[in-house]
Amino acid sequence: MFSNTSNYVQGVDTAFIVILSIIIFFLIGLTTALVIFIIKYNEKKHPKAAHFHSNNTLEIIWTIIPLALVMAMFYFGWTGYTPMESKPPDNSLPIKVTARMWSWSFEYPNGRRTDTLYVPQGEPIALHLTSLDVIHAFYIPAFRIKKDMVPGKDREAWFIANSPGSYDLFCAEYCGLEHSSMLSTVEVLPKEKFEKWLADTSTGVAASVQSPVLAGKTVLQKYGCNACHSFDGSRLLGPSYKGLFGERVTVITNGAERDIVADEAYIRRSILNPNTDIVKGFQKGLMLSYEGQITDEEINQVIEYLKTLH
Ligand code: CUA
Repeated sequence: MFSNTSNYVQGVDTAFIVILSIIIFFLIGLTTALVIFIIKYNEKKHPKAAHFHSNNTLEIIWTIIPLALVMAMFYFGWTGYTPMESKPPDNSLPIKVTARMWSWSFEYPNGRRTDTLYVPQGEPIALHLTSLDVIHAFYIPAFRIKKDMVPGKDREAWFIANSPGSYDLFCAEYCGLEHSSMLSTVEVLPKEKFEKWLADTSTGVAASVQSPVLAGKTVLQKYGCNACHSFDGSRLLGPSYKGLFGERVTVITNGAERDIVADEAYIRRSILNPNTDIVKGFQKGLMLSYEGQITDEEINQVIEYLKTLH
């Protein structure tokens, strides 16, 4: 508490402590009064019930004190909440956050894309939140930031991360079977280190020069494909990658069953038009197209990688 990891921590934690203190005060006060009254006004000691008329002073007191307490809770809640809903500062670094069943994608101004959120320390970050399918919620507990991501509605959030480190990032809205696999981290780097990281767009290229196979696996991980497709042959929501390439698969196309070979065209089609051919035994409509997100080069890397899993 009061760790000050983001610009919201103080406001949220103050409201929390104020409300919690009031609750604890009343819990103890009321319980004590209850016990005292049970003992003191026991029927055995007072067999005859007393009758009271109204007491204006008392009524005014028990109206004003709770009013003041409730207004105090409102005040601290409001001052903690308003910065979250205010416009991000003009010098904010814009990052596009895309949620889908069941992965995260973060896109930086220079086009770099990751499945882990990287941010510079001490700089305002403006998040543009979009969901491609159902309602997800962007949640970083350590930063006290949480925002629903509603399909068809672009939403904004912003924050400043104060200390370098790695923090959990969750989806906080039940969004289907693999909701629990929508977890990632936010990596806060010192400003210079972040600039260097951002400018270094070579990693993908360098990796593909060294090994297109390795690059393919990185691509699958980057887009969160492994949430639904396993590398080891085990059955998840979608077919496994293992032993897929070059094999005959039975698919349902427009309601009719047919046998095809899982070749390069099939892999490409499955990424860009995933609902055209549905592998028999799997459900239609669970995967959305990656068109406009994944590049041609990346698809080729994926194909090269899948060949090795044969
Ligand atoms: Cu996305 Cu839960």
